[in-house]
This record gives sequence, C-alpha cells and structure tokens, in this order.
Amino acid sequence: MGFIHVTVAALCCVVVVFVGFPLSSNAELDPSFYKNTCPNVSSIVREVVRNVSKSDPRIFTSLIRLHFHDCFVLGCDASILLNNTDTPTKIESEQQDSPNSNLRGFDVVNQIKTAVENACPGIVSCADILTLAAEVSSVLAGGPNWEVPLGRRDGLTANRTLANQNLPSGLFNLTQLKSAFAAQGLNTIDLVALSGAHTIGKAHCSSINSRLFNFSNNDKPDPTLDPSYLQTLRNTCPNNGPETNLANFDPTTPDTFDNNYYTNLQDKKGLLQSDQALFSTSDADTISIVNTFASNQDAFYESYKASMIKMGNIGVLMGKNGEIRKQCNFINKKLVDQLDLASVVPKKSLEEGIVSSF
Ligand code: HEM
Repeated sequence: MGFIHVTVAALCCVVVVFVGFPLSSNAELDPSFYKNTCPNVSSIVREVVRNVSKSDPRIFTSLIRLHFHDCFVLGCDASILLNNTDTPTKIESEQQDSPNSNLRGFDVVNQIKTAVENACPGIVSCADILTLAAEVSSVLAGGPNWEVPLGRRDGLTANRTLANQNLPSGLFNLTQLKSAFAAQGLNTIDLVALSGAHTIGKAHCSSINSRLFNFSNNDKPDPTLDPSYLQTLRNTCPNNGPETNLANFDPTTPDTFDNNYYTNLQDKKGLLQSDQALFSTSDADTISIVNTFASNQDAFYESYKASMIKMGNIGVLMGKNGEIRKQCNFINKKLVDQLDLASVVPKKSLEEGIVSSF
C-alpha cells in the first residue's frame, strides 16, 4: 500500500514537473547563449552590417525582411538561405518562390557567417545570425535595440510550397493578413507592430502597380490612396513602366526607423494595399493600434521589440535538433566534409569561406 502511495506520488511529481516545464522550446532561447563560446558575436555581426551599409544603405531593410521571411516558413531555422541541391537530400530553395523573389542580403549574411566562423568556428547558427542581423539593422537605422534570445539551430531542409502558402502578399486584405499571422501564433498587435518595419525600405513597382492604375480590375486607382501621394507614386511607377523601379515605403523619412509609417497610414499614404488595410478597413480593431503607435513612438518601439522577439521564437530548433551549418547556403554534407576541400575549391573561395547564393 505504502509502495503504491509513493509510486502514485512520484508519478504525480513527474506529471507536475512535465506540465510545469514549458513545452515549447522558446523559453530556452537565451541572450547569453554564446557568452562562453562566442562572446563577441553581436559586435561581429554589427561591424559587418555597418561596413556593408556604407556602400549599400538599404542593407538594413533587406536583413530585417530576410529574418521575417525565414521565420514564417518552417520557423526561424535559416531555411530561407538554402540553395537548390540534389544531394545528400533534394532541396528546393525557398528563394525561387515568388514572395521571396525580391529578397536581398544573402551575400551579406554569408559575409557575416565568415566573420563569425573566423572568431568561433562551428558555434553560431545561421538562424541566430539572421536574428541578430535584424536587430542590429533596426538599431543602425535609428530604431530600437533589444536583447536577442539566442540558441537556434539550423534546419536540414527548406519548403518552397510553404513559402508560397505562409508569406503574406502585399495585396492581402485585413482578414487574410490576420490569418497569415495567426497561423504563426502572432496576434493583431504583432501584425500592426511588425508591419511598422515598413517605415524603411523600398518596394518594386510590380508590388503596387495595380493600386495605381487598375484597382479591383476597374481601371481606377485604389480609393484609399491620397491623391497627391498617388501622383507621386505614378511618377515613380508609370503605367506599363519598368516594374523594377523602386518606391520608398515611407515618403516622409524613408531611411529612418521611426513611427511615421503609422502617421502615413492616417494620411492615406500607405504604400502597399496590405499596409493601408490596417487603417482603412471599416471598423477594424487595427485602427486604434495604428493611432496609438502614430501618436506614441515609444509605444511602437516597445511593441515592435516584443513582437520581433515573439517572431524570432517561431518554430525554433534547439538542443540536438538541426545543426550548425558550416555554410549558410547548404546543409552540412558528410560527403563534402570528408572531401579535402582544398583540392577542389580555389583557395580564395575557401578563405572567403562561402559560396554565394547567386
Ligand atoms: C504584414 C504583412 C506583410 C506584407 C504583405 C509584406 C509585403 C512586403 C512587400 C510586397 C515588400 C516589397 C517587396 C518588393 O517589391 O521588393 C516588402 C518589403 C519589406 N518588408 Fe514586408 N511585408 C509584410 C510584413 C513585414 C514584416 C513583418 C517585416 C519585418 C518585421 C517586413 C519587412 C520588410 C522590409 C524591411 C521591406 C523592405 C525591403 C527592402 O527594402 O529591401 N515586412 N514587404
């Protein structure tokens, strides 16, 4: 009898312990994860990004967007960085999917990885590099800083179909946006706060042309566009003009990470249909959130930081899952590891450490 009591009590303890443990691995990410193994990783990432920005000021926006596009497909596992390969497993790169066709910054991630590998070989995942690069980019663009939880590992595959399904389109209405974010465990405040990343960066004319000339197939512009802003955008993106022209997301302070994105929405100057939907959808619960962020930059920053951390926790691989990739564009291949790389790769490429994704 006593034995049964003890056993039942022990089982209860086990159950309590298991239930008490966070089932999601998120809680285990830790800003001090590399404290002993790669203590300078954040400053290494920052210095590479800062250097690149001297010749490519748009790199901040591109790196922030890369992290988002990584996390929405298979979680924040650096799957977005994988190239097409046939061996040892077939990988269909997510980069070829249409929502990803305009992504930039892959080579810069590779530069960062090389610098990090030089300091701490085999320690830091490409997924953590993407997350750190997004934070560093916010700061360098004049936005908020935060402690980045770390300890992600890199995935062993990519999923092009999911990239197509999960990534929201600039033509989405509010219901579609909310559902794309809800599918990733992100709520309406996350949607509005993270969309604030569109306070910097550019979009191709191909992303907005239908708003300017043929909204809802009626040969008229989107009625939620301010008329003078419409004219400005038509100058940048003429009808049947080059779809590769670029329009700034924020016509007021295009390169500064501030809360003008939200005042723009109030002024009917959101660039994408999906941006303006946050403010111009009748009776939407997002309107009051836009108004709060428009009038209070600190409130925006606080929500943005919290939502970036939440997004950075999506589907992370930790512990023994995944791997630490040697090169961000390829999973580690036993075969390649066993080869004498020096005999097949020119010395310069080895020193640069990385094969470009382009
Ligand atoms: C809410 C749903 C979202 C939609 C529909 C969306 C869509 C887009 C589109 C269509 C572009 C322009 C692509 C091009 O034409 O080159 C873009 C750019 C960008 N997006 Fe988003 N996005 C969303 C959310 C986000 C989030 C959550 C972030 C980051 C936290 C983000 C960061 C960016 C940045 C920084 C750029 C500019 C990139 C550059 O200049 O290279 N977006 N987005």
